[in-house]
Amino acid sequence: MSYPFQIKTIEQYHEAYKRSINDPEGFWSDVADAFEWKKKQPFSSRVLEWNFTEPRIKWFEGARLNITENALDRHLKTNGDTAALIWEPNDPNEKTRTLSYKVLHRKVCEFAQVLRNNGVKKGDRVCIYMGMIPELAIAVLACARIGAIHSVIFGGFSAQSIADRLDDAGAEYIITCDGAYRGGKDIPLKSVIDDALIGNKTVKRVIVHTRTRTPVSMIKGRDVWWRDEVDDVIETMNDEVLNIPAAEMDAEDPLFILYTSGSTGKPKGVVHTCAGYMLWTAYTFVNVFQYQPGDVFFCTADIGWITGHSYIVYGPLLAGATCLMFEGIPTWPDAGRFWDIVDKHKVNILYTAPTAIRSLMSYGLEPLKGKNLSSLKVLGSVGEPINEEAWHWYDEHIGKKKCPIVDTWWQTETGGILISNLAGVTPARPSWATLPLPGVQPLLVDEKGEEVTEFTDVAMSGNLCMRAPWPGILRTTWGDHERCRQTYFSAYKDLYFTGDGAWKDEEGNYKITGRVDDVLNVSGHRLGTAEVENAINMHASVIESAVVGYPHDVKGQGVYAYVVLDEKRHKEDDDLTRKDILATVSRIIGPIAKPDKIQFVRNLPKTRSGKIMRRILRKVAEGELNNLGDTTTLLDPAVVDEIKEGRL
Ligand code: PRX
Repeated sequence: MSYPFQIKTIEQYHEAYKRSINDPEGFWSDVADAFEWKKKQPFSSRVLEWNFTEPRIKWFEGARLNITENALDRHLKTNGDTAALIWEPNDPNEKTRTLSYKVLHRKVCEFAQVLRNNGVKKGDRVCIYMGMIPELAIAVLACARIGAIHSVIFGGFSAQSIADRLDDAGAEYIITCDGAYRGGKDIPLKSVIDDALIGNKTVKRVIVHTRTRTPVSMIKGRDVWWRDEVDDVIETMNDEVLNIPAAEMDAEDPLFILYTSGSTGKPKGVVHTCAGYMLWTAYTFVNVFQYQPGDVFFCTADIGWITGHSYIVYGPLLAGATCLMFEGIPTWPDAGRFWDIVDKHKVNILYTAPTAIRSLMSYGLEPLKGKNLSSLKVLGSVGEPINEEAWHWYDEHIGKKKCPIVDTWWQTETGGILISNLAGVTPARPSWATLPLPGVQPLLVDEKGEEVTEFTDVAMSGNLCMRAPWPGILRTTWGDHERCRQTYFSAYKDLYFTGDGAWKDEEGNYKITGRVDDVLNVSGHRLGTAEVENAINMHASVIESAVVGYPHDVKGQGVYAYVVLDEKRHKEDDDLTRKDILATVSRIIGPIAKPDKIQFVRNLPKTRSGKIMRRILRKVAEGELNNLGDTTTLLDPAVVDEIKEGRL
């Protein structure tokens, strides 16, 4: 496998960048030539049609393809025996599984037939709620094979969150497991699904894979076993039928929906389409990580998040790469687990999150003893700003100062990496994402939407926007296009607004400073403050609440909740009430959203018009008590002193 679009030198980067801006249609048509199409785009069509007003974004509309033919079939002739997925189980004593492209292709075809036998058709929404096992990747690809729209939900979300997503997506099918192993825990996934389905009238079928042998209730007429269904396909179909043709999809048909949090209470279903997402994930994978055939690529994310979609499943498989998928967590059975995996599988490229690095740093160097990390060539970081201390620890102790670190900035909505250095090709700079990829046109704007062009000291600072679409940009939010327009395209005219703040230096490098909206980034997981507040407010004793982020040594940001309780509760019950609130949040959203700190307050600081002054709450949570700014517009300034006194 060779990559005609792989950039190898800094000069080639600048050349590619320039052409991608001057002639985006020609540039991406050339990249598209490296893929297999069922039908090329009609001659009369534009490669790119767009405006950011509606927004309407179409890449290669009218061309026909199936992404799985590019991720699987295309590699069979020459690389069929190459390992596509290496799976490392949660328990280090359990056997590793390796699936070659041939085997993965066959399993995807078998399961695609299972989906068909169960009535799934092109365009149907299939919700996938599984642990990190190869069958999760198989389920995702089988949906794509028949043109069903997958919507993967991370295993840490609650029944209520799943129910909301099922409802929003109008999903009729679910693929799940009896349970999932994560470290010392055994998470009863099917039972969570059962709770999510109470009162649900649209789901017709639940396909259950066996992983943990946890007892599950199987409802007649609705629930079937994965194994039985696959056996049925294998028994009744011959090889030819099994090699089922992939559905012919339009370039702009939806490939998947992935729910993500925003500044309003309700998560939104980000929609990505077939061709643009395919080009973007493959292009960025090959260029940012400088993947070479034979390399073992280890992305530690969960497929329940966009990083797992783009850099465990689609990007690597489209490039014919070998991708390592890990079921467990970095600290189980001990804090040396990642390093054991790197050593055991001779990992060449490691892609993880700053929160994992900081957590492992806190165990010192002992867990690294005796681990051979010499196979590593490239290290990657994703999900949140990486602080310099973590960057240097990663560089020194993991990369032994010989591996370029790529700090990759992107979002669920961007489909793949937008700003990053290219490993060993363009320079790295600690805690800076550095340069935009070809096709990406960032700019910084001030509050009024004016482009920032003045440097203060060595950098300029502003809200990060994009001027034009790249192939992997989201197309809509499921079932509510207006929401997509409002959220991303209305803050600044004719620009895509990322929600992040950034700095830019004189060489054009970017440093992302964090979210400027009401979105938190906790251990690299996105949470909306309004979403967490809504969950807290569900507790019977809570009158109202306000949630803000604060700096957290390991998680990056922690969740700080100010809560007003009704007067009936007894002071001595505070600890119990705290626990009850945590249980409520776990039940409504999931354990990932549990506040780290809950401070009970008599009142929230509000202006005379009733608006909560979050700025003050943020400062108190951050410990900046002497720098609260103007508090004269508050209805009751005395509230601030109380809040300061009660700070946790
Ligand atoms: O704030 C940015 C932060 O994560 C947000 C996107 O979150 P999500 O959609 O969950 O996707 C995470 C994985 C791509 C961004 O708005 N973020 C992501 N990567 C970085 C980052 N912040 C700083 N540096 C990064 N490398």
